[in-house]
Amino acid sequence: MCGIVGYIGAKPVKKILIDGLRELEYRGYDSAGIAVLQQGGFSLFKAVGKLINLEEKAKEFESNGFSVGIGHTRWATHGKPTELNAHPHLGQNSYVVHNGIIENYQELKAMLTAQGAQFLSQTDTEVIVHLFEHHLKTAASAFEAFRQTLARLEGAYAVLLVNGSVPDTIFFAKHGSPMIIGRNTDNDVLFGSSDAALIGKCNEVIYLEDGHYGYASSDEVALFDAQDREVVLRYVPLSDNKLSAQKEGYRFFMEKEIYEQSTVLADTLMGRLRDRSIYFEEIDPSLFEGINEIKLCACGTSYHAALVASYLFERHAHIRTSVEIASEFRYRDPFLTSDTLFVVISQSGETADTLESLKMAKKSGLKTMVICNVDNSSMVRLADASILTRAGIEKGVASTKAFATQVSVLWMLSLYLGETRKTLPATEIERQIQLLRTLPSTVAVDPATHEQLRRLSKRYLHGHGFFFIGRDVFYPLALEGALKLKEISYLHAEGYPSGEMKHGPIALADPELFTIALLPQHKLYDKTKSNIEELSARDSTICSISPLDFDKADDHIRTRAQDDYMLEFFEMMVVLQLLSMEIAIRLGNDVDMPRNLAKSVTVE
Ligand code: F6R
Repeated sequence: MCGIVGYIGAKPVKKILIDGLRELEYRGYDSAGIAVLQQGGFSLFKAVGKLINLEEKAKEFESNGFSVGIGHTRWATHGKPTELNAHPHLGQNSYVVHNGIIENYQELKAMLTAQGAQFLSQTDTEVIVHLFEHHLKTAASAFEAFRQTLARLEGAYAVLLVNGSVPDTIFFAKHGSPMIIGRNTDNDVLFGSSDAALIGKCNEVIYLEDGHYGYASSDEVALFDAQDREVVLRYVPLSDNKLSAQKEGYRFFMEKEIYEQSTVLADTLMGRLRDRSIYFEEIDPSLFEGINEIKLCACGTSYHAALVASYLFERHAHIRTSVEIASEFRYRDPFLTSDTLFVVISQSGETADTLESLKMAKKSGLKTMVICNVDNSSMVRLADASILTRAGIEKGVASTKAFATQVSVLWMLSLYLGETRKTLPATEIERQIQLLRTLPSTVAVDPATHEQLRRLSKRYLHGHGFFFIGRDVFYPLALEGALKLKEISYLHAEGYPSGEMKHGPIALADPELFTIALLPQHKLYDKTKSNIEELSARDSTICSISPLDFDKADDHIRTRAQDDYMLEFFEMMVVLQLLSMEIAIRLGNDVDMPRNLAKSVTVE
């Protein structure tokens, strides 16, 4: 995902900017650029691909004394990953870098073009710099023009802007996308979209809040809030320990990644939700021509995401959908027909079994697609088409945010197919798009629920096993909940369809059998409730998760009332992730690096 750095000071600016961008590389990007304002003139360098290409482009540049610089790594959303679309974007005498999305950019672009602005890129970002220069013509100062610009932007953004008429200044703003200001004892001022970019360069930082904006020079930092009131600067120390700083105060990467789901889901949805349709820039609709079946193939958590998709694809797009565990698919002499679209799902894009399955499908002449979190991974390079999940790097071995983004992409894809195959009414697509828009707030961790789970976890450290149960898409979620728990707690856990328990597993029921029951309000509530009651009657210890009260449970985790079962799915997903993590922490396990597991499984 995109990254931002900024620098004001007398040190070698190119190195500071590129080093800062390198610390943000883990978020993924497809182009990068820097703009430096020094001795009254701008120097601009941009390159597609890795930072080494940018370094090559800028190799002749040597800074000399005081300068102001901004830099960016871009993950394409509006417009392809080209140099023209890479940031910083130029107006007449200003440059801007931006993370997030400007939702009203088309309207602003039309207005600015009519007034003579020349747009060079396909990005939403470029409107910011032209809008700024438009206001600069009449505003009392450059800062006033910046303030007027922000007032007209809709959407989410973190922005740095520099203008030739104020060569010692960076204008900055944060609204829904992170931005941090840092300083050091040499009087340098730095900016970063994550503190990873600032570690070792600053000793104090301010984490800006939504609505904050202002200007900075080496003499002064002025900060304002959304009501235009000046804010007192409150710097906090920045740790120089990279690992602990990268955890941003969380105990484990897994915890940070659970909390991050709100942001990465917003990133994953960005640019893909139109008012009445889903838009995947990377997908050519001809991919689906002549396709009568979809075969999904994956391993582990990604396999669970595939199972969720099988419900959604058949329900929304009326297309036959099957799901394969990659290690089984490879050796079972599958019968494949050319009207099948073969879709692999993989966080890493490198999992050996999934990759080999993809190769097999290609060899059999099937059209292929990958849903993946890593651009340029082996699967992305091999498949005919790819959709990237934009979860950013996932460090915890137990997958959390990658799963959330996979399911959100698959949900969007089911609506896309529902529209192209004319199986979903327009009103239903519109309704579900509205639901998708609320995903970032749906997965935001409720501190009270987290605290309840932390307290509750002490009751679930023993017993002879866990059953996670659910129906419909809550069945794959139950599988995923059980996988999370066993991976990091080393306790035995199984996921089961609620209705299947009475066909055998219920024989295990006793007080030492823990049942984690997913009881959504909007999907098969009564059926699931009866299944849980059957277990409760046989004295299994029940922990139910539901927005509705359930008096047969020993413990009850109350989720928020949601408008739809898919939102209940995402909220319950967070509950299961936190519950596993809290149990594992109580057991004293290394949550981020569980025994015997590797993050990327590149062996059979
Ligand atoms: C579980 C987990 C694994 C992976 C599996 C596939 O938390 O992370 O089950 O989902 O190894 O990996 P990818 O998605 O990289 O193909």
